[in-house]
Amino acid sequence: MEQNNNLKIVSNPIVNQSLCIIRDKNTDTQGVRLAARKLTRILLYEATKNLPQKEVNIETPVDKCTVNTIDDDITIIISPILRAGLIFTDEAVDILPQATIRHIGMYRDEKTLKPVWYYNKVPMPVDNPNKYYVYITDPMLATGNSLKEAIKLYVEKGIPEKNICCVCMISAPQGINAVFNEFPNITLIVASVDSHLNERGYIVPGMGDAGDRIFNT
Ligand code: URA
Repeated sequence: MEQNNNLKIVSNPIVNQSLCIIRDKNTDTQGVRLAARKLTRILLYEATKNLPQKEVNIETPVDKCTVNTIDDDITIIISPILRAGLIFTDEAVDILPQATIRHIGMYRDEKTLKPVWYYNKVPMPVDNPNKYYVYITDPMLATGNSLKEAIKLYVEKGIPEKNICCVCMISAPQGINAVFNEFPNITLIVASVDSHLNERGYIVPGMGDAGDRIFNT
């Protein structure tokens, strides 16, 4: 895999335990969801480190003070790639209640492994693109084809790549390379870089079909 400083692999015992649970084929849907949500929350905390802050004056019950908080003069967008990317959404709106959720609907054609669009909630005009911070969520970064399409949507609106962060649970080197070759300045947050893709485009060892495992289909 090529080197890119914008790739952040998040690791700690909770991340590892959550990955262990979601990968295990004997974990049922309820278990997968619980562990995945815990994992997505940790990844989102890491992702939001790029948000600009401002100083505000407040008063605690004890004294006046000046503290940092997230700048409210920005637009924060969470873009889950349907359907598996939805697993991030509840955690994301808990952490960032000010965010707008813009769903992106794509499924992977089983033969070509190319994304097929079926829903696009990103039609908005963007007046001041530098003030947009976008988090695209998809649990599995396999070929990178869907993620590249999603990033392109925002880049074409003038939003700087450095303001776009993709958050994935499990990734494959092929997908990481594909995304950075086209968009070298985005940030990519993952919990694991696995070995490779198999002939059906599944990540090995991965967790199988994330959508099926999360939604019990
Ligand atoms: N999508 C999945 O859900 N799993 C994979 O392994 C690859 C893509």
